Amino acid sequence: MSLYRFMGRLFPFVQQQQNLHIFSDANSSANAVFNALANPQNFEERRACNFITDGQGQLFVKTVTLKSLASRLRVTFGWRRRSGQYDWPVAELLNNLGAHNQGSPTPKLRGFGFRRSSLGLVHEFYLITEALAGYQDARHALASGEVDVLKAVESIFNLMVELHSKNVHHLDLWCANIMLDPQGQAQIKAIDLENCYVGATEHLSQVLAFQFGFLYYEGLKAYLSEEEYDELVKQALGYFSHIDLAVFMPIYSICKHRHISRKGRIKLLKRGHLP
Ligand SMILES: Nc1ncnc2c1ncn2[C@@H]1O[C@H](COP(=O)(O)OP(=O)(O)OP(=O)(O)O)[C@@H](O)[C@H]1O
Ligand SMILES: [Mg+2]
Repeated sequence: MSLYRFMGRLFPFVQQQQNLHIFSDANSSANAVFNALANPQNFEERRACNFITDGQGQLFVKTVTLKSLASRLRVTFGWRRRSGQYDWPVAELLNNLGAHNQGSPTPKLRGFGFRRSSLGLVHEFYLITEALAGYQDARHALASGEVDVLKAVESIFNLMVELHSKNVHHLDLWCANIMLDPQGQAQIKAIDLENCYVGATEHLSQVLAFQFGFLYYEGLKAYLSEEEYDELVKQALGYFSHIDLAVFMPIYSICKHRHISRKGRIKLLKRGHLP
């Protein structure tokens, strides 16, 4: 079954007119998102339509633009790249679905949509998820100084344990992609699942080493010394089974000190070593 036919069955409520197509799991949501996106004229205006109320609750709409002709063609026809991966917005759509079906702490996917050009090619893609009302991303929450750093790190590590227990391997898990309730009441969640793998991996020690190093390099180093962070990671590792420290430590040390490209992360997950 083609990708969009499959997705259309999951999200059977459709609103479409001219070039804009919205699919959702509820009629009121499809209408609300369609109405919000139908009028804004340009990408920036449409991107600003992120929080939408549909009468039942709030939805979050992420707008992604497809720049190259090749990606517009692939997304229009539901094709993969030569590497076997889907383009980022389609990958994010499928990963959101997969992660949520595994029961992982990620916002529920409520639908998707796209806008076609006059040639019929998709040039803008929309992901519709449950809105995390009252949440703040951990980057802003930490920068505000209003959340306790150690408590935030503890809940981020708990989130990692939970994602791994569901076989959800987020490869872009830095503070901006982690949503916290600043009051500490609601469950912490992971967002932005475009670079994510749902399924078992043979290279769990390597993937975890990357994730812990990446979190530090991409933000937590502003709040904790390397020694403090190492100590917290050491304690957290006790919650993961089957970690091979001889494999974990060298990759962790590298990822704490340098940025790893998106392609490098996928290679690590698939082949077990950094390029
Ligand atoms: N479901 C949601 N509910 C509330 N806010 C959200 C939700 N998803 C994302 N956000 C907010 O939007 C920001 C951007 O979302 P996301 O990380 O998915 O996009 P991105 O690919 O990083 O895009 P950008 O380049 O615009 O940051 C997040 O840091 C978060 O503050
Ligand atoms: Mg992000």
